[in-house]
Amino acid sequence: MAIRNIVKEGDDVLRKVSREVVNFDEKLWSLLEDMAQTMYKAEGVGLAAPQVGILRRVVVIDIGEGLLELINPKIVSAEGEQEGQEGCLSSPGEYGIVVRPYKVVAEAQNRRGEHIRVTGEELLARALCHEIDHLDGILYKDKVTRMLDQTEMSSGRKRIKLKKK
Ligand code: CO
Repeated sequence: MAIRNIVKEGDDVLRKVSREVVNFDEKLWSLLEDMAQTMYKAEGVGLAAPQVGILRRVVVIDIGEGLLELINPKIVSAEGEQEGQEGCLSSPGEYGIVVRPYKVVAEAQNRRGEHIRVTGEELLARALCHEIDHLDGILYKDKVTRMLDQTEMSSGRKRIKLKKK
């Protein structure tokens, strides 16, 4: 296992569309392990393969409820709306307000290629949308309502409360 470098905003690789994974082999597993380790070290809740320079449809997420490894994930249904704070390990120290669905269902494959389905609400829904967007070269700043200013960021690490609509 190894910590990989996280690509920062401005790098072209973050704007490319990632390719489907077809081989569920040791190379994939070592990418997944490196991505998880890199995400935990950076104290993030999600990381997509393009963020470590690999244009493959691979995502790891852990919102504090255990590690999710999602291969070839896609959102198959979305409902409701939430407005809340979002950041990205590729844009350290910055946060913005983004409107996302309140609940999503994603279909994906696990590391053995088996089909799985993940339902997420609130933060997990937000993380699923954010990370899957990365696989299509989309960053949260493309969708941000407004960026938080210095005062809001220094006025504590309090998250802006999720607004259920
Ligand atoms: Co991100």
